[in-house]
Amino acid sequence: MKKKILIIGACGQIGSELTLKLRDINGQNSIIASDIREGNKELMKSGPFELVNAIDYNSILTIVEKHQITEIYLMAAMLSATGEKFPDKAWELNMNSLFNVLNLAKEGKIQKVFWPSSIAVFGPSTPQENTPQETIMEPTTVYGISKQAGERWCEYYHNKYGVDVRSIRYPGIISWKTNPGGGTTDYAVEIYHEAILNGNYTCFLSENTKLPMMYMDDAIEATMKIMDAEPDTIKIRSSYNLAAISFTPKEIAAEIKKSIPNFQITYQPDSRQQIADSWPKSIDDTKAREHWGWKHTFDLKKMTNTMLENLQIKNSKKL
Ligand code: SER
Repeated sequence: MKKKILIIGACGQIGSELTLKLRDINGQNSIIASDIREGNKELMKSGPFELVNAIDYNSILTIVEKHQITEIYLMAAMLSATGEKFPDKAWELNMNSLFNVLNLAKEGKIQKVFWPSSIAVFGPSTPQENTPQETIMEPTTVYGISKQAGERWCEYYHNKYGVDVRSIRYPGIISWKTNPGGGTTDYAVEIYHEAILNGNYTCFLSENTKLPMMYMDDAIEATMKIMDAEPDTIKIRSSYNLAAISFTPKEIAAEIKKSIPNFQITYQPDSRQQIADSWPKSIDDTKAREHWGWKHTFDLKKMTNTMLENLQIKNSKKL
């Protein structure tokens, strides 16, 4: 059967770049983008798009049948900070969308599922440095609880029903094309925009808050790599730890100053500080590296240069 992919949440930060990359590789008509609203021009022009509500099973089923979909990447979710404002909605979206997709796979209507988990599955009682794959997990955010429960369900559907579901625990993802929304790690994207536009940034986390992060190109590479791997190399069917770089607001600011010497940062921690403090500072992703050959390519310096260059070009086009 010809590979045909449905991306749910294709207009979000990761979904939009994943859609473009998968279309480059597989051809535009093999990748159906979908979301609850339309996305940016580049995405909308790049191939087929369907409006879909991820919590509505029948609307997903209709699209799966219409396009003879074989794989779903479920990228729709409510992230950590917004989830704390709307706990019921976050739970409903994050869990029901996953059940919809897992059930489609269980019923044999699709063959493969990608579902992202997050560093938010960990909590204050987890070892914070080099957090192991298997460790204490007592998440304190609704988002984290939904991701941890989701991991258990992924493993359950794999073991009980043979569903080929693959998952990675994304760290904070940094990119310049589409903004993130409602996450605790969003500061590490905002800081680059503000550095270029205004030369200063007020950070909502304190200066020494270290968190695991990753540049978008590495996140996309990991996503495609785990989905392309032979099924028997995927030995963990809950979700894989995945890491690239860890840094603090102070460190990212120092790196930006190398290109924009007058850049100023001030700190005004808000409710997101408590969320960040409950998460790991660095992640041990040995198993992803061993099982399916994951490796990252962007460090803080390369990422900073890439972000500043691309945002400068993007802004000059707007003027
Ligand atoms: N980037 C996410 C957040 O901050 C973590 O997965 O909520």
